[in-house]
Amino acid sequence: MAAFTLAHLSDPHLAPLPRPRLAELAGKRALGYLNWTRNRYKYHRRDILDLLVSDLHTQMPDQIAVTGDLVNFALESEFPLAQAWLKTVGPPDKVTAIPGNHDAYVRSTRLRFAESFAAYFGGDAPQEGPATFPSLRRRGPLALISLSSAVPSGPFMATGRLGSAQLAALEQLLQSIAHEQLFRVLLVHHPLRSANRMKRLTDAKDLIALLARHGVELILHGHDHVHSTIWIDGPERKIPTVGVPSASSIAHGHYPAAAYNIFAISRAGNHWRCDMTVRSVNDALRVREIRQVRLL
Ligand SMILES: [Fe+2]
Ligand SMILES: [Fe+2]
Repeated sequence: MAAFTLAHLSDPHLAPLPRPRLAELAGKRALGYLNWTRNRYKYHRRDILDLLVSDLHTQMPDQIAVTGDLVNFALESEFPLAQAWLKTVGPPDKVTAIPGNHDAYVRSTRLRFAESFAAYFGGDAPQEGPATFPSLRRRGPLALISLSSAVPSGPFMATGRLGSAQLAALEQLLQSIAHEQLFRVLLVHHPLRSANRMKRLTDAKDLIALLARHGVELILHGHDHVHSTIWIDGPERKIPTVGVPSASSIAHGHYPAAAYNIFAISRAGNHWRCDMTVRSVNDALRVREIRQVRLL
């Protein structure tokens, strides 16, 4: 049987940024906007993002995961643009998107992501009221489990938090599917380990402890805009935890150029096999395979 393929991209930080209204530029947004107009607009480019997504489409993945930071300052005017962009990536039954800290940049618009993208993360089971996290979507052999670590934070901060209610619900969800033969993929914007206190997932320890008890097969995240693979403890084996660069970024400083990963997942005897292919934008603005790694 052919492998099931899951593509992972993250942190599109959609450009160009719509002009903020003056009233929107208070507090944290004022600092962020200054940083954008001085630096960030040079590094996050729409043409790079479009190049990456059109290459992704040529690979025809079965599913696509987008792990947050679709927008920059959670301005009201950014969300319709992000909705239009995500539609070009694929329809909601094929694309799963979760929020990042930039999608909940300030308190006033912290719920806009959930309102705008419920169709892209809502679980399979019909539920009353708005879609919530964690959510579960079954696609082929996959159980795609979405978390939200997106919370507003103070100036110069980019921390994330899951909260005890979401963690308890995740534990219950993992227990409820434990008897099924599923390749469980956990989607979360923040990495599980971070050297930078200002950017960390504040309750990562609790999530790591929960995963040591229940396990998943693969964890995908964004946020730090670099290639990264770390392994955390599961009940029986280590769990690969993989991050990707920003999908719109040119290489700058220690940040690599935009890239995405494709995971080919299949069943081999009584265990899972998972191969990762990394495709990245090069200096000539072409997207090329740069690496293949067997994860499981
Ligand atoms: Fe980001
Ligand atoms: Fe982020």
